[in-house]
Amino acid sequence: MSTHNIVILGASYAGMGVAHGLLKVLPALQKKTGKTFKVTLMTNSTHFWFSVGAPRAMLKPYPNDIMDSFLPVKQGFDQYPSELYEFVHAEITDLDSEKREVYYKLKNAKEELVSDTEAMHFDTLVIATGAAGPSPLYSYHGSHVPTLEAYKDIQARSPSAKSIMIVGGGASGTETAGEVGYIYGKKTTAPKDITLLSGNERLLTGLRPAIGKRAQEFLEAMGVKVEHNLRIKDSKSLDNGSTQITLSDGSTRTVDLLINATGRKAAGSFLPSALIDQEGKVKVDGYNRVPTLKSVYVAGDMASTSPGGLIYIKFNTPVTTGNIIAELSDKGKGKVYKPITTKEMQFVPVGPEQGVGAAFGWWVPSMVVKMVKSKTFMFDQAQKTVLGTA
Ligand SMILES: Cc1cc2nc3c(=O)[nH]c(=O)nc-3n(C[C@H](O)[C@H](O)[C@H](O)COP(=O)(O)OP(=O)(O)OC[C@H]3O[C@@H](n4cnc5c(N)ncnc54)[C@H](O)[C@@H]3O)c2cc1C
Ligand SMILES: *[C@@H]1O[C@H](CO)[C@@H](O)[C@H](O)[C@H]1NC(C)=O
Ligand SMILES: *[C@@H]1O[C@H](CO)[C@@H](O)[C@H](O)[C@H]1NC(C)=O
Ligand SMILES: *[C@@H]1O[C@H](CO)[C@@H](O)[C@H](O)[C@H]1NC(C)=O
Repeated sequence: MSTHNIVILGASYAGMGVAHGLLKVLPALQKKTGKTFKVTLMTNSTHFWFSVGAPRAMLKPYPNDIMDSFLPVKQGFDQYPSELYEFVHAEITDLDSEKREVYYKLKNAKEELVSDTEAMHFDTLVIATGAAGPSPLYSYHGSHVPTLEAYKDIQARSPSAKSIMIVGGGASGTETAGEVGYIYGKKTTAPKDITLLSGNERLLTGLRPAIGKRAQEFLEAMGVKVEHNLRIKDSKSLDNGSTQITLSDGSTRTVDLLINATGRKAAGSFLPSALIDQEGKVKVDGYNRVPTLKSVYVAGDMASTSPGGLIYIKFNTPVTTGNIIAELSDKGKGKVYKPITTKEMQFVPVGPEQGVGAAFGWWVPSMVVKMVKSKTFMFDQAQKTVLGTA
């Protein structure tokens, strides 16, 4: 009897989440149904990168070592029977939804592409390739290696930089500015010139204006200048290591260190355009399925129903896993995903001692954000995400 192939594209929060969910129940399901199953996890990166902690860990080894942010995916899956699971280190290049095949190029340990295009058949597919942006500090650029190199570069250059500019007033930029302000701001012995460009009218547009204003006050108290309504148009590296930036108002500035925290977009360039919505995400129905295809699911930032972020992943991924199991056991369509809340929900540390945020539409005191997130950046979640116990 032939094996039912479940292929998962992407091995980050969402892809690993679905893989763990399935692998925990597949042995029992094999016994019950008499079928054989196999889960294949395919990704460009051998290591999971703990993006949540990036604003702190990019500036200094944290909690202990630079590699605490980069954990081998393999570690998390040695616990399962080897015949049920395969890890494929490859760049995914194409998808044929009619033939039900994924196309990819294998990579070696040095991250070099080492094969011609190969094809893999799938019976069930899960698309979880996430989002990517211009800077490797804020998204995978292929493997985890460019991100690791970017951390090393920032750690080498920031101590001697006199001026640091952070671009992007969302959570990532605001959090990073808080960390930079804490280490290099006006309460330190040799304060640097630190600027945050929000690129908008205010910080944190996902939250009510008063919360963004509070974040700005925290930053200014640390000596971070916050400027609004200016966007970066162009940047070039100068011979002496500084960066020259051209802004949307035509002005130019020179900074010693530029940190680009802008523009994460769904990473689905390998997908047929018919599956993609205006934001580049994959259109899904209430069951997290692509409505026009059989047994094709979407998880994480790639899904059209995702606002981006981990709360969606935490509550949505188990629905996907459950619906796949329901389908494999001939138990109908499964369950419809319902968001836990549509109200404001975001915690934003501004340095290790304070923060802003809201939960279920309630403004949360700085002290609570500090306890939950600012103190440790939830680094205990990194290992748990890989092991499937988060
Ligand atoms: C600095 C920062 C801080 C954040 N903090 C928070 C936070 O505090 N709370 C919160 O809720 N969210 C936060 N987020 C958002 C969170 O990181 C994302 O929601 C999450 O990473 C999405 O997970 P994902 O599994 O969907 O995809 P991603 O994490 O984007 O992973 C995509 C996976 O797909 C692989 N991949 C992509 N394309 C290909 C391809 N063509 N071939 C092979 N493999 C491919 C990648 O290698 C990777 O394994 C933060 C993001 C950043 C950048
Ligand atoms: C995958 O990694 C390779 C480098 O090893 C890179 O050239 C390629 O752009 C990456 N693909 C994606 C989609 O990230
Ligand atoms: C590099 O050169 C630019 C332009 O001349 C100057 O503004 C900047 O301060 C220099 N940076 C360093 C680190 O010397
Ligand atoms: C910064 O991000 C913008 C897009 O938001 C991009 O156009 C630009 O090239 C990036 N600059 C650097 C230096 O990474």
